[in-house]
Amino acid sequence: MNCIILGSGKGTNVKAILESWSQNQLNNAKIKAVLSDNKDSPTLKIANSFSVASRHVKLNDNSAFISPEDNKALINAIDDFNPDLIVLAGFMKILSQEFIEHYKEKVINIHPSLLPSFKGRYAIKRAFEHGVKISGCTVHWVSKDVDSGKIIAQAPVRVMDSDTIESLTTKIQCAEHLLLPSVIANLSVGLS
Ligand code: GAR
Repeated sequence: MNCIILGSGKGTNVKAILESWSQNQLNNAKIKAVLSDNKDSPTLKIANSFSVASRHVKLNDNSAFISPEDNKALINAIDDFNPDLIVLAGFMKILSQEFIEHYKEKVINIHPSLLPSFKGRYAIKRAFEHGVKISGCTVHWVSKDVDSGKIIAQAPVRVMDSDTIESLTTKIQCAEHLLLPSVIANLSVGLS
């Protein structure tokens, strides 16, 4: 199963996936490339440090949504790697309908809440400020509505009275780093 990873941020999930892969824990998954819309994202350097291809895909539109031109650029860059699975690991752009149709049932996303609660941006902060006692992370198939596709797996995290947004973020991201590689490993052998 050829996989590519898209990330815009710090790249801790990219690192967790590549570490699992380098330890032969991803079953039949092969990580072909890491792509980022953010040329300064550490994701690209992390990929290089694991000898995995990395590519900055320059997207011109600054909005959260992907313009038709940017959509073509992104699809062209991804198609070069002929992926069976596209993993969104902190990719912060909202994908177009055309993109989702083009890669139907091939795109998964990690989200830092127990969906369907706290969809969208700033999920950890909103959950914390809401006073939830259990939060966590979700891996789901990407569908046309944001953070609404079929759930594949979730990991819960308890919120203690002593937690802050920062400590909760750390706890949720630790859970993500276990959950996302395990989902990729399962999908690569036909389990979900
Ligand atoms: C992760 O916590 C991921 O769940 C979140 O961005 C972070 C990226 O961190 N994704 C979203 O909020 C998508 N809606 P990372 O760059 O260190 O992996």
